[in-house]
Amino acid sequence: MSYAIIGFGKIGQALAHAFARKNIDVTVASRRPPEALAPQARAIGPTVVAKSLRDAVEADTIILAVPFGEHREVAKALPSWEGKTVIDAMNLFPVPEELDGLPSSAFVAKSFTGAKLVKGFNHLVAATLAADPVVEGGHRVVFLSSDDEDATAPVATLAKQLGFAPVKLGKLSEGGALVHARGRTWGQLIFQDLFKKEQ
Ligand SMILES: NC(=O)c1ccc[n+]([C@@H]2O[C@H](COP(=O)([O-])OP(=O)(O)OC[C@H]3O[C@@H](n4cnc5c(N)ncnc54)[C@H](OP(=O)(O)O)[C@@H]3O)[C@@H](O)[C@H]2O)c1
Repeated sequence: MSYAIIGFGKIGQALAHAFARKNIDVTVASRRPPEALAPQARAIGPTVVAKSLRDAVEADTIILAVPFGEHREVAKALPSWEGKTVIDAMNLFPVPEELDGLPSSAFVAKSFTGAKLVKGFNHLVAATLAADPVVEGGHRVVFLSSDDEDATAPVATLAKQLGFAPVKLGKLSEGGALVHARGRTWGQLIFQDLFKKEQ
């Protein structure tokens, strides 16, 4: 399995720290050329490698860590996302009416044709996500939701490899509603920094 993080700001770097901590290879990319991201990538760890967006999207699993409004630009990097898993770590707040009542991740899924989309790693502030998720007596919880039943298991495996305790919430508009904003209200689980004894 190969991994890429698109967006190398606060959340992208927080996730890169999680990969580096466990020596798992990950590509990072943004609109800037890889040379511009390389010093920061190297500073995080040797397994974090900056590439162009075009090269980064060759990974099997792509984590979206860009501002919500940019997801359509990222989606244009490939004509088809068939065979890929896309993890949506983005939040949208407040939620505009243009989404027609869809959870923001269901709206994102429409642009990544063919991909299996999982919402995850979005409910914590960046500094918390960057911190070691293994603390005395527990593992920091991440919530995963998806409309694609098969998609969640490999992302849960990744979350465990990174030291988190994944909690599956089911479909985006069901349990997933707890990690989405609605209008001007955050989902009830957003910003809840929870720990589980067992992964
Ligand atoms: N900050 C938090 O605590 C937090 C918590 C949970 C979720 N989130 C969500 O995570 C996402 C990122 O937030 P952030 O705080 O990390 O933002 P940020 O610090 O502003 O970083 C955004 C990153 O996206 C890149 N980017 C923008 N447009 C792009 C495009 N079209 N293609 C490729 N890369 C692009 C930017 O780099 P270039 O300018 O070089 O392209 C930058 O590296 C947002 O959706 C946010 O809602 C944030």
